[in-house]
Amino acid sequence: EPSQLEALMSSHIETFPDFPEPGVLFRDITPLLRDPEAFRAIIGHWGAVLPKEIDLVVGVEARGFVLGAPLALSLGAGFVPARKAGKLPGSPRSISYDLEYGSAEIEIGVDSLPRGTRIVVVDDLLATGGTAAATIELVREFDVELLGVSFLLELEGLGGRDRLPAGVPVTALSTVP
Ligand code: PRP
Ligand code: ADE
Repeated sequence: EPSQLEALMSSHIETFPDFPEPGVLFRDITPLLRDPEAFRAIIGHWGAVLPKEIDLVVGVEARGFVLGAPLALSLGAGFVPARKAGKLPGSPRSISYDLEYGSAEIEIGVDSLPRGTRIVVVDDLLATGGTAAATIELVREFDVELLGVSFLLELEGLGGRDRLPAGVPVTALSTVP
């Protein structure tokens, strides 16, 4: 019997075959975002499985913003955006990577992660792990304490977890095969 959480997830995430390209089974979280009770419940469940004492939540553009910001607020933490290249002023630190469908480059402001801060990296979804592996590598250029990386949904079949560096705790609120 599926848990209340699993039921909430499966009823609020829609699956689209062959988007944005053939062979990709796209998981769309927008139904979750537009249901305020489900959205609030999911953020609450998620916060409860994260480490305590988080100073900053780092979220990856764009879906990592939509989830990471309310998560940070609910935890009493701040939020730091890892933006797609070319959007941040100053001289941000950058990294390029491949994801399930294509490639991208993300950046974090050079002053955004002060020395010694305890951070978690969050995103909606772990697919191939390219995005998360790159984000971990990027935050490691700062002198921070990376407490873990956490996802709303892990697509287990794509093996993303195995692509992440050993020693970084990886959690997911929900998984699909
Ligand atoms: C999606 C998703 C994750 C990433 C996961 O982002 O939000 O960040 O792909 O894939 P991976 O594990 O194979 O790297 P996308 O780059 O499509 O950007 P978006 O949030 O702007 O839609
Ligand atoms: N990002 C990478 N792979 C994805 C998928 N299968 N569904 C939604 N977002 C993704």
